[in-house]
Amino acid sequence: MRAIDIIEKKRDKKALTQEEIDWFIAHYTNDDIPDYQVAAFLMAVLLNGMTTDEVTHLTMAMAKSGDMLDLSEVSNYVVDKHSSGGVGDKTSLVVLPLVAASGVPVAKMSGRGLGLSGGTLDKLEAIAGFRFDLDHNTLIRQAKTIGLALAGQTKNLAPADGKLYALRDVTGTVPSIPLIASSIMSKKLASGANGIVLDVKVGSGAFMNDLSQARELAETMVAIGKLAGRDMIALLSDMDQPLGFAVGNALEVEEAVLTLKGGGPDDFRKHCIEVAAYMLSLAKPQTSLAEHHAAVTRLLDDGGAYQKFRQMVEAQGGDVQMIDDPTLLPQAKIIEQVHAEETGFIQRVDAKNIARAAFELGAGREKKEDSIDPAVGVKIHVKVGQYVEAGAPLATIYANDAQKVQVSRDYIRQGVGFSQESVDPLPLFYDVIGLEK
Ligand code: URA
Repeated sequence: MRAIDIIEKKRDKKALTQEEIDWFIAHYTNDDIPDYQVAAFLMAVLLNGMTTDEVTHLTMAMAKSGDMLDLSEVSNYVVDKHSSGGVGDKTSLVVLPLVAASGVPVAKMSGRGLGLSGGTLDKLEAIAGFRFDLDHNTLIRQAKTIGLALAGQTKNLAPADGKLYALRDVTGTVPSIPLIASSIMSKKLASGANGIVLDVKVGSGAFMNDLSQARELAETMVAIGKLAGRDMIALLSDMDQPLGFAVGNALEVEEAVLTLKGGGPDDFRKHCIEVAAYMLSLAKPQTSLAEHHAAVTRLLDDGGAYQKFRQMVEAQGGDVQMIDDPTLLPQAKIIEQVHAEETGFIQRVDAKNIARAAFELGAGREKKEDSIDPAVGVKIHVKVGQYVEAGAPLATIYANDAQKVQVSRDYIRQGVGFSQESVDPLPLFYDVIGLEK
């Protein structure tokens, strides 16, 4: 086989065979095909798309380019979740302990954030001592003993994706549904879970701004997972405004802990209950979704989910005092309020602007090697549809550098819009895809 023939076939809008895709990915992973040919291939995929069979073969080839985790030792049914990323999205911190406390084991690999907000690992690193460098044996042992383990992605998890993503980043080939779907799903399939819930975000603070594109991405990923023999559900959830109130790493851990102890913002709590209930419905389909809802709600209110989270923090070397008393988490030196300048209904709390406001303070990273300040961020006090009087608090800024406060304040002001007419609240979810098992 020759790379040029495969590139030309894709250029001419013909479907590639499994053998061709396997050959191409295996040879690229081994550095036998140069980047310029792979860049041409990626552009042909971006322009001409892929059939469901092709994208499934691509995903499997990428997954098999490294370790395929076998979680059968943990349990005969393990569930996982993936969020396409959003502002204030600390869902994993609550949902994973909730599912584990319900008796369904979770062994998850998570990534760091790149861009405006921190990833799950960055958030948990706000807890002193918390370690993610679990090897596969430790991940499996911990998931077996306490039902919950959260590790950083190892280099050998879908290494073809690491190489392809770096190339896509510099060749204008990131925004392609088959390439995004295969990138996300290759890592999920290699991570070994039997059932996967995808939380696909839609809105200004998400990768996909448009509902129809987000739906197409979700449907593609669900189809890939099912063809690969996994049980799949995708939720399409709102990301036009931040989820919950807190945006910033330690602030989000604090909000997650509050939620695990039965409190927390109403939207975030409901979001977590929904995601956890769907994960449980994959593992225990004989129980109704309403019963799963009721059971996870009890686990938030009776402390069961918090105790599971605490067990995980302890097992991974984290300082549990910091979660028992979140005032011990890293604290910012400067705390300033932003007040409403007019009276009216909140029409917009633009998630992208709020993310930018937190990023400018140091809550995210532009390049992989940049460091994050765990203490800084923004707490929003309003949601779309709410009525506020002039002078009421809109947001609180948590900063460590006085010079960064004004630019953060400007982003918040630009991001919050008012209306004199009443405004409907935003939905939490737009749709659920792939429901039948
Ligand atoms: N997340 C990924 O892992 N890959 C993509 O291509 C986009 C988002």
